[in-house]
Amino acid sequence: MSATPRTTVPQSLDGPLPMTLPRLAECKRLGEAIVMVTAYDYPSAQVAQEAGVDVVLVGDSGAMTVLGYPSTIPVSIDEMLMLASAVRRGLRTPLLVGDLPFGSYETSNEQAIATAQRFIKEAGCDAVKLERGGTSVERARAIVQAGIPVMGHVGLTPQTATALGGYRAQGRTAEQAIAVARDAIALEEAGCFAIVLEAIPAAVAQEIMARVEIPVIGIGAGPADGQVLVFHDLLGIYDGHVARFAKRFADVRAHMVAGVAEYAAEVRSRTFPAPEHCYSIDDEQLANFRAGLT
Ligand code: KIV
Repeated sequence: MSATPRTTVPQSLDGPLPMTLPRLAECKRLGEAIVMVTAYDYPSAQVAQEAGVDVVLVGDSGAMTVLGYPSTIPVSIDEMLMLASAVRRGLRTPLLVGDLPFGSYETSNEQAIATAQRFIKEAGCDAVKLERGGTSVERARAIVQAGIPVMGHVGLTPQTATALGGYRAQGRTAEQAIAVARDAIALEEAGCFAIVLEAIPAAVAQEIMARVEIPVIGIGAGPADGQVLVFHDLLGIYDGHVARFAKRFADVRAHMVAGVAEYAAEVRSRTFPAPEHCYSIDDEQLANFRAGLT
């Protein structure tokens, strides 16, 4: 399901079919776990595609993992659109969700719709994600009514981490947990097709899952209908702070550093490039070339 023609994306009759919203709902109904991962460029999108994930999120976490900002706050719409466009070119079947950055949707429904439309129209996203309950519920409803699928995100919402007391687990008191549950239910009522629960106790997430019909994607929320992790965290590429819920499935950064260090050593020792990395020229042509230079 794509809102824009994927003219740059090779279509194949073999292999898995593109993920759709009805198929995601069916995964929940059938108890099939939904696999979601972030991606921020063409190669990470290709990796997600080949690994067979269901949903790819161009998360505003890319502000930190690939753009080097200290938080998700500074990233602009244009920066997110550039990342999302590159991901689009590397994907065929997963549902592509674009994260609306901080300050791009909170002011009014009109602002939220206009930003969401850019993600669909300019970057080829299938859906958008926004953070928080509260006023975001109205923004989600407006975007859905404008014909754009929306994923909600409650619990620890990094765009408003300062107001939440920092990057810490949420919903650990009954009062807080009720507020998170109410936000999740309100986002479902607003028409969201799925919701991310971040950094809340697993028992609270279970109660919320029992009260909503849409798929719940967990990150630090225990077992859920699906899971999402940040690409750079799960592969061990990012060297900044990594949350305790981010399991490392590989140590790619160490391999990257070792590879570049070996390259540097071979350049310095003049063992690279070797003859097999060089182009040859016919002896006669070389002689003529040298003669032509004098
Ligand atoms: O930006 C992001 O990567 C996210 C996920 C952690 C859900 O919002």
